[in-house]
Amino acid sequence: MNTVSLPHMQYAIHEKSEASGHIGGMMQIDAEHSEIPLAPVGEAQERPLLQIKELQTQFETKQGIVKAVDGLSLELYEGEVVGLVGESGCGKTMTALSIMRLLPENGQIVAGEIGFDGVNLLQRSGEEMQRIRGRKIAMIFQEPMTALTPTMPIGRQISEAMEIHLGLSRQVAKERALELLAHVGIPSPQARFGDYIHQFSGGMRQRVMIAIAFSCQPRLLLADEPTTALDVTVQAQILDLIKNLAQEAGMTALFITHDMGIVAGSCDRVAVMYAGRLVEVGSVDDVLLKPLHPYTQGLLGSVPSLHSEPGERLSSISGLPPDLVQLPPGCKFWPRCPLADERCKQEEPLLEQYGASQAACWKADYRSDSISESK
Ligand SMILES: Nc1ncnc2c1ncn2[C@@H]1O[C@H](COP(=O)(O)OP(=O)(O)OP(=O)(O)O)[C@@H](O)[C@H]1O
Ligand code: SF4
Ligand SMILES: [Mg+2]
Repeated sequence: MNTVSLPHMQYAIHEKSEASGHIGGMMQIDAEHSEIPLAPVGEAQERPLLQIKELQTQFETKQGIVKAVDGLSLELYEGEVVGLVGESGCGKTMTALSIMRLLPENGQIVAGEIGFDGVNLLQRSGEEMQRIRGRKIAMIFQEPMTALTPTMPIGRQISEAMEIHLGLSRQVAKERALELLAHVGIPSPQARFGDYIHQFSGGMRQRVMIAIAFSCQPRLLLADEPTTALDVTVQAQILDLIKNLAQEAGMTALFITHDMGIVAGSCDRVAVMYAGRLVEVGSVDDVLLKPLHPYTQGLLGSVPSLHSEPGERLSSISGLPPDLVQLPPGCKFWPRCPLADERCKQEEPLLEQYGASQAACWKADYRSDSISESK
């Protein structure tokens, strides 16, 4: 079967084949454009577009096994935007890369299911995953320079994806790429089509990556902190651009961020992650206004409010996230939790329904103001 390389995805991440190891550092995509089997009609209506069940992703290191994602379950329904939040190192990026099946060399998905449109991505062959990536699931990375190739003109990086995935002719793909560049706000697309990525500013590079991500109209968009490397005014423009494009296309999206402000402005639901697992899931209104988990409350304490004085120090969660090689027994948050008791130190709470939200905390039904009293 013919394969064509997509150099713009040549970053330091390795594709793994179903059976054993890697295909190599460069992603390869089948030139043949065949459809992935779809869910039976009817069932698809009730089924989430993305259904992650008990996902476990681990890394082998000299220090031991790093449990980067540890039993995470999450569903995304058609057309919704879900925020995935948590402190640095809690496993957000590895969750997204597990969905894409693009983990670093020493990483492995050891258990779980990732259902996408009715099929378990973990049972797809390497070739099938190559057809899904870019075409049905696209990812926007934090740092475009690591995801785009420096030696290929940006216009070609966009048009090549459409030739491969959509079977467009070179000329039609070029016309579409020019339209897309204009749509994402690149001035003079015709003149910039042949430019290389180093000739663009940070914000413009991110716009180019957005154009690539949207070029094949994927059904699911994974946006991994797409604005953190940019200055504040450009951040807002890029976020608006992603939001508007996703809305126009009726796309389902996972927004990875550690910024609750972004969640408030961009997402329908939010999933809060700690030490490789979810500790709270609910609508943005519920989670931001009535957080159930002490960790979520801590994260929200870091968001400036309208009542903050200029220059006022923001509260943050005391202590550090746990070592993912040696997780504490019981609730993983107990060493930092102001409400921890003996049970918390021994028994791990599972994610359970409390009202409209879900939380993994033995004291999730306590009134939300009791935590501030106990501090
Ligand atoms: N190649 C690797 N080898 C070993 N451990 C790794 C590797 N890549 C990531 N990890 C570990 O996996 C855990 C989860 O990493 P991940 O990148 O998903 O965090 P994150 O939530 O995206 O953080 P950030 O907000 O800083 O981007 C971290 O503890 C990280 O150190
Ligand atoms: S289970 Fe206990 S330690 Fe964990 S978050 Fe809830 S109160 Fe805190
Ligand atoms: Mg990350």
